[in-house]
Amino acid sequence: MTTPTPLIAGNWKMNGLENDLAEAAAVAAGVGATATRVAICPPATLIERMARALAGSKVDVGGQDCRAQASGAFTGDVSAEMLAQAGARLVILGHSERRAGYGETDALVAAKALAALRGGLEPIVCVGETLEERKAGRTLEVVTGQVRGSLPAELAGRAFSVAYEPVWAIGTGLTPSVAEIEEVHRAIRATLREELGEASNRAPILYGGSVKPSNAAEILHAAEVGGALVGGASLKAQDFLAIIGAL
Ligand code: 13P
Repeated sequence: MTTPTPLIAGNWKMNGLENDLAEAAAVAAGVGATATRVAICPPATLIERMARALAGSKVDVGGQDCRAQASGAFTGDVSAEMLAQAGARLVILGHSERRAGYGETDALVAAKALAALRGGLEPIVCVGETLEERKAGRTLEVVTGQVRGSLPAELAGRAFSVAYEPVWAIGTGLTPSVAEIEEVHRAIRATLREELGEASNRAPILYGGSVKPSNAAEILHAAEVGGALVGGASLKAQDFLAIIGAL
Protein backbone atom coordinates (compact mmCIF):
# COMPACT_ATOMS: atom_id res chain seq x y z
CA MET A 1 0.00 0.00 0.00
CA THR A 2 1.27 3.46 -0.90
CA THR A 3 1.96 5.70 2.05
CA PRO A 4 1.47 9.42 1.61
CA THR A 5 4.36 11.84 1.94
CA PRO A 6 3.55 13.86 5.07
CA LEU A 7 2.83 17.56 4.73
CA ILE A 8 3.06 20.22 7.42
CA ALA A 9 1.38 23.39 6.23
CA GLY A 10 1.11 26.73 8.01
CA ASN A 11 -2.01 28.82 7.51
CA TRP A 12 -1.15 32.41 8.39
CA LYS A 13 -4.79 33.49 7.86
CA MET A 14 -5.05 37.34 7.74
CA ASN A 15 -1.69 37.84 9.45
CA GLY A 16 1.59 38.92 7.96
CA LEU A 17 3.26 42.08 6.71
CA GLU A 18 6.58 42.40 4.96
CA ASN A 19 8.68 42.10 8.13
CA ASP A 20 7.10 38.72 8.87
CA LEU A 21 8.90 37.27 5.84
CA ALA A 22 11.83 36.86 8.24
CA GLU A 23 9.83 34.14 10.06
CA ALA A 24 9.32 32.26 6.79
CA ALA A 25 13.03 32.58 5.99
CA ALA A 26 13.86 31.22 9.46
CA VAL A 27 11.59 28.23 8.82
CA ALA A 28 13.32 27.55 5.50
CA ALA A 29 16.73 27.79 7.18
CA GLY A 30 15.60 25.58 10.05
CA VAL A 31 14.09 22.72 8.03
CA GLY A 32 17.28 22.29 6.02
CA ALA A 33 16.93 19.16 3.90
CA THR A 34 14.11 17.49 5.87
CA ALA A 35 12.16 14.76 4.04
CA THR A 36 8.90 16.25 5.30
CA ARG A 37 7.04 18.51 2.91
CA VAL A 38 6.57 21.94 4.43
CA ALA A 39 4.40 24.78 3.16
CA ILE A 40 3.43 28.24 4.35
CA CYS A 41 0.20 29.85 3.17
CA PRO A 42 0.51 33.61 3.79
CA PRO A 43 -2.03 36.26 2.80
CA ALA A 44 -2.18 36.70 -1.00
CA THR A 45 -0.29 39.99 -0.75
CA LEU A 46 2.83 38.19 0.50
CA ILE A 47 2.82 35.15 -1.79
CA GLU A 48 5.09 36.55 -4.49
CA ARG A 49 7.64 38.00 -2.06
CA MET A 50 7.64 34.86 0.07
CA ALA A 51 8.04 32.60 -2.96
CA ARG A 52 11.06 34.64 -4.07
CA ALA A 53 12.54 34.62 -0.56
CA LEU A 54 12.09 30.84 -0.22
CA ALA A 55 13.12 29.88 -3.78
CA GLY A 56 15.41 26.86 -3.70
CA SER A 57 14.39 25.94 -0.13
CA LYS A 58 12.30 22.94 1.00
CA VAL A 59 9.37 25.22 1.89
CA ASP A 60 6.56 25.66 -0.63
CA VAL A 61 4.21 28.63 -0.64
CA GLY A 62 0.43 28.34 -0.87
CA GLY A 63 -2.72 30.44 -1.06
CA GLN A 64 -5.61 30.40 1.40
CA ASP A 65 -8.51 30.45 -1.08
CA CYS A 66 -9.22 31.01 -4.77
CA ARG A 67 -12.17 31.89 -6.96
CA ALA A 68 -13.54 29.06 -9.14
CA GLN A 69 -13.31 31.21 -12.29
CA ALA A 70 -9.98 32.01 -13.97
CA SER A 71 -10.78 35.70 -14.51
CA GLY A 72 -13.68 38.12 -14.76
CA ALA A 73 -15.70 40.77 -12.97
CA PHE A 74 -15.26 39.44 -9.42
CA THR A 75 -14.07 42.41 -7.39
CA GLY A 76 -11.66 41.50 -4.66
CA ASP A 77 -11.20 37.86 -5.66
CA VAL A 78 -8.08 36.00 -6.74
CA SER A 79 -7.95 33.06 -9.17
CA ALA A 80 -5.87 29.89 -8.99
CA GLU A 81 -3.94 31.04 -12.05
CA MET A 82 -3.04 34.31 -10.30
CA LEU A 83 -1.86 32.48 -7.18
CA ALA A 84 0.24 30.11 -9.29
CA GLN A 85 1.80 32.99 -11.21
CA ALA A 86 2.68 34.67 -7.92
CA GLY A 87 4.59 31.53 -6.94
CA ALA A 88 2.04 29.43 -5.02
CA ARG A 89 2.19 25.64 -5.39
CA LEU A 90 -0.76 24.78 -3.16
CA VAL A 91 -4.04 26.34 -2.04
CA ILE A 92 -6.20 25.82 1.05
CA LEU A 93 -9.88 25.45 0.10
CA GLY A 94 -13.09 25.20 2.12
CA HIS A 95 -11.58 26.35 5.40
CA SER A 96 -14.31 26.53 8.05
CA GLU A 97 -13.72 30.28 8.39
CA ARG A 98 -14.79 30.57 4.74
CA ARG A 99 -17.57 27.99 4.96
CA ALA A 100 -19.02 29.80 8.00
CA GLY A 101 -18.12 33.40 7.13
CA TYR A 102 -18.88 33.38 3.40
CA GLY A 103 -21.45 30.60 3.12
CA GLU A 104 -19.15 28.38 1.06
CA THR A 105 -20.92 25.11 0.23
CA ASP A 106 -19.41 21.73 -0.61
CA ALA A 107 -20.34 22.32 -4.26
CA LEU A 108 -18.48 25.64 -4.31
CA VAL A 109 -15.43 24.09 -2.65
CA ALA A 110 -15.48 21.32 -5.26
CA ALA A 111 -15.60 23.94 -8.04
CA LYS A 112 -12.63 25.69 -6.45
CA ALA A 113 -10.74 22.38 -6.26
CA LEU A 114 -11.28 21.94 -10.00
CA ALA A 115 -10.03 25.50 -10.52
CA ALA A 116 -6.93 24.69 -8.48
CA LEU A 117 -6.16 21.72 -10.73
CA ARG A 118 -6.75 23.86 -13.82
CA GLY A 119 -4.37 26.49 -12.43
CA GLY A 120 -1.69 23.96 -11.54
CA LEU A 121 -2.16 24.19 -7.76
CA GLU A 122 -2.38 21.33 -5.28
CA PRO A 123 -5.56 21.71 -3.22
CA ILE A 124 -5.72 21.22 0.56
CA VAL A 125 -9.45 20.65 1.10
CA CYS A 126 -10.69 21.33 4.64
CA VAL A 127 -13.53 19.52 6.37
CA GLY A 128 -14.69 19.41 9.97
CA GLU A 129 -17.69 19.28 12.29
CA THR A 130 -19.02 21.96 14.63
CA LEU A 131 -19.33 21.34 18.36
CA GLU A 132 -23.11 20.94 18.02
CA GLU A 133 -22.63 18.31 15.32
CA ARG A 134 -20.11 16.42 17.48
CA LYS A 135 -22.38 16.55 20.52
CA ALA A 136 -25.23 15.21 18.40
CA GLY A 137 -23.06 12.21 17.39
CA ARG A 138 -23.00 13.38 13.75
CA THR A 139 -19.23 13.87 13.29
CA LEU A 140 -18.58 11.01 10.86
CA GLU A 141 -21.72 11.69 8.85
CA VAL A 142 -20.88 15.41 8.53
CA VAL A 143 -17.20 14.94 7.72
CA THR A 144 -17.63 12.11 5.20
CA GLY A 145 -20.48 14.09 3.60
CA GLN A 146 -18.14 17.07 3.20
CA VAL A 147 -15.46 14.81 1.70
CA ARG A 148 -17.96 13.39 -0.83
CA GLY A 149 -19.29 16.84 -1.73
CA SER A 150 -16.08 18.91 -1.74
CA LEU A 151 -13.69 16.63 -3.64
CA PRO A 152 -14.46 16.38 -7.36
CA ALA A 153 -13.90 13.07 -9.20
CA GLU A 154 -11.17 14.81 -11.23
CA LEU A 155 -8.89 14.65 -8.17
CA ALA A 156 -8.46 10.89 -8.76
CA GLY A 157 -4.77 10.28 -9.39
CA ARG A 158 -3.85 13.93 -8.75
CA ALA A 159 -1.84 15.45 -5.89
CA PHE A 160 -4.06 16.83 -3.14
CA SER A 161 -4.62 16.56 0.60
CA VAL A 162 -7.56 16.71 2.98
CA ALA A 163 -7.35 18.62 6.25
CA TYR A 164 -9.60 17.47 9.08
CA GLU A 165 -10.19 20.57 11.19
CA PRO A 166 -12.89 20.26 13.86
CA VAL A 167 -14.41 23.77 13.95
CA TRP A 168 -14.46 23.75 17.76
CA ALA A 169 -10.71 23.00 17.90
CA ILE A 170 -9.64 25.95 15.75
CA GLY A 171 -7.98 28.69 17.78
CA THR A 172 -9.44 27.39 21.05
CA GLY A 173 -6.61 25.32 22.52
CA LEU A 174 -9.01 22.35 22.51
CA THR A 175 -8.23 19.18 20.54
CA PRO A 176 -10.03 15.88 20.08
CA SER A 177 -8.43 12.84 21.72
CA VAL A 178 -6.04 10.79 19.62
CA ALA A 179 -8.71 8.06 19.39
CA GLU A 180 -11.25 10.61 18.10
CA ILE A 181 -8.78 11.94 15.52
CA GLU A 182 -7.98 8.40 14.35
CA GLU A 183 -11.68 7.53 14.04
CA VAL A 184 -12.33 10.52 11.78
CA HIS A 185 -9.15 10.08 9.73
CA ARG A 186 -9.98 6.40 9.09
CA ALA A 187 -13.46 7.39 7.94
CA ILE A 188 -11.99 10.04 5.61
CA ARG A 189 -9.52 7.49 4.19
CA ALA A 190 -12.30 4.97 3.53
CA THR A 191 -14.44 7.65 1.85
CA LEU A 192 -11.54 8.81 -0.33
CA ARG A 193 -10.96 5.21 -1.49
CA GLU A 194 -14.65 4.80 -2.33
CA GLU A 195 -14.87 8.09 -4.19
CA LEU A 196 -11.45 8.44 -5.80
CA GLY A 197 -10.01 4.92 -5.85
CA GLU A 198 -6.80 3.38 -4.55
CA ALA A 199 -4.58 6.18 -5.91
CA SER A 200 -6.04 8.41 -3.20
CA ASN A 201 -3.98 6.43 -0.67
CA ARG A 202 -1.17 8.80 -1.68
CA ALA A 203 -3.09 11.84 -0.43
CA PRO A 204 -2.10 12.82 3.11
CA ILE A 205 -4.91 13.50 5.57
CA LEU A 206 -3.79 16.42 7.74
CA TYR A 207 -5.09 17.27 11.18
CA GLY A 208 -5.71 20.93 12.03
CA GLY A 209 -6.98 22.73 15.12
CA SER A 210 -4.80 23.96 18.02
CA VAL A 211 -1.71 22.02 16.93
CA LYS A 212 1.24 23.31 18.96
CA PRO A 213 4.72 22.11 19.90
CA SER A 214 3.43 20.43 23.07
CA ASN A 215 0.82 18.21 21.36
CA ALA A 216 2.33 17.80 17.88
CA ALA A 217 4.16 14.50 18.42
CA GLU A 218 1.12 12.74 19.82
CA ILE A 219 -1.16 13.99 17.04
CA LEU A 220 1.30 13.49 14.18
CA HIS A 221 1.99 9.88 15.17
CA ALA A 222 -1.71 8.94 15.27
CA ALA A 223 -2.93 6.42 12.69
CA GLU A 224 -3.80 7.94 9.28
CA VAL A 225 -2.53 11.38 10.30
CA GLY A 226 -0.33 12.47 7.41
CA GLY A 227 0.66 15.87 8.69
CA ALA A 228 -0.87 19.04 10.06
CA LEU A 229 -2.47 22.30 9.02
CA VAL A 230 -1.26 24.77 11.63
CA GLY A 231 -2.76 28.20 12.31
CA GLY A 232 -1.50 30.34 15.19
CA ALA A 233 1.60 28.25 15.92
CA SER A 234 2.80 28.64 12.32
CA LEU A 235 3.32 32.39 12.74
CA LYS A 236 6.50 31.97 14.79
CA ALA A 237 9.35 30.05 13.17
CA GLN A 238 10.45 28.52 16.46
CA ASP A 239 7.03 26.97 17.16
CA PHE A 240 6.46 25.88 13.56
CA LEU A 241 9.90 24.25 13.41
CA ALA A 242 9.19 22.42 16.68
CA ILE A 243 6.00 21.03 15.14
CA ILE A 244 7.83 20.00 11.95
CA GLY A 245 10.51 18.36 14.10
CA ALA A 246 7.88 16.36 16.01
CA LEU A 247 6.95 14.34 12.91
P1 13P B 1 -5.09 27.07 14.96
O1 13P B 1 -3.88 26.17 14.77
O2 13P B 1 -4.74 28.47 15.27
O3 13P B 1 -6.09 26.43 15.89
O4 13P B 1 -5.82 27.14 13.51
C1 13P B 1 -6.04 25.97 12.82
C2 13P B 1 -6.48 26.31 11.45
O5 13P B 1 -7.55 26.84 11.23
C3 13P B 1 -5.54 26.03 10.34
O6 13P B 1 -6.15 26.17 9.11
